[in-house]
Amino acid sequence: MPAMTFDLFSDTELPPRPPQQIADSAWLLPGFVDTRRAEAIVALLRRLVRQAPLRRLQTRGGHWMSVETASCGRYGWISDRAGYGYSERDPVSGQPWPEMPPLLRQLAQDGARQAGFADFAPDCCLINGYRPGAKMGLHQDRDERDFSQPIVSLSLGLPAIFLWGGLQRSDPVRRIGLMHGDLMVWGGPSRLVYHGVAPLRPGRHPLLGEWRLNLTFRRAR
Ligand code: SIN
Ligand code: FE2
Repeated sequence: MPAMTFDLFSDTELPPRPPQQIADSAWLLPGFVDTRRAEAIVALLRRLVRQAPLRRLQTRGGHWMSVETASCGRYGWISDRAGYGYSERDPVSGQPWPEMPPLLRQLAQDGARQAGFADFAPDCCLINGYRPGAKMGLHQDRDERDFSQPIVSLSLGLPAIFLWGGLQRSDPVRRIGLMHGDLMVWGGPSRLVYHGVAPLRPGRHPLLGEWRLNLTFRRAR
């Protein structure tokens, strides 16, 4: 008899995971993107990062972030010793960021709508690449102009533990598993919740190898 296999990454062998409300106006939409669509997205991203390469950013304090970052859309998020915020140009190339592919814009808007945000108009897609060990400390997304617009965040590749805190840095933090294809949406009263990502555990994903990619869609301006 063939051995039973359990493939952690296959969306056909996992029990279905229904949408989960994390907090007021904050939703986890598991498997929002299926395997086929994820392949199309990764193909787009491979092209995109040839134009705007993933790079490590330095904080104003001089600390190098462990994630590697690029953007597409009208605005990109950058950080260096001079400060951080949104820019219309990629400082590596001096050129505008690549356009946000319509497929990505549409999926971000669909996800936002499912979470109750019908008018999401993203002008920035931040691409964060995590290798094993990379992490993101607790922070608020607060460089955007209009906090009535939500944050929409797609996870691809290796699984991660998302850290979900509260409106105060000192609030208790919940750990939420994020798998390939999962979408998180938060806004409204949860828009300024502290969040982060625990150090990525080693592994190999069939599509992305030793990477987790996170796409964060925002309305920057
Ligand atoms: C972020 O907060 O910008 C990244 C979140 C994630 O990687 O899931
Ligand atoms: Fe964030």
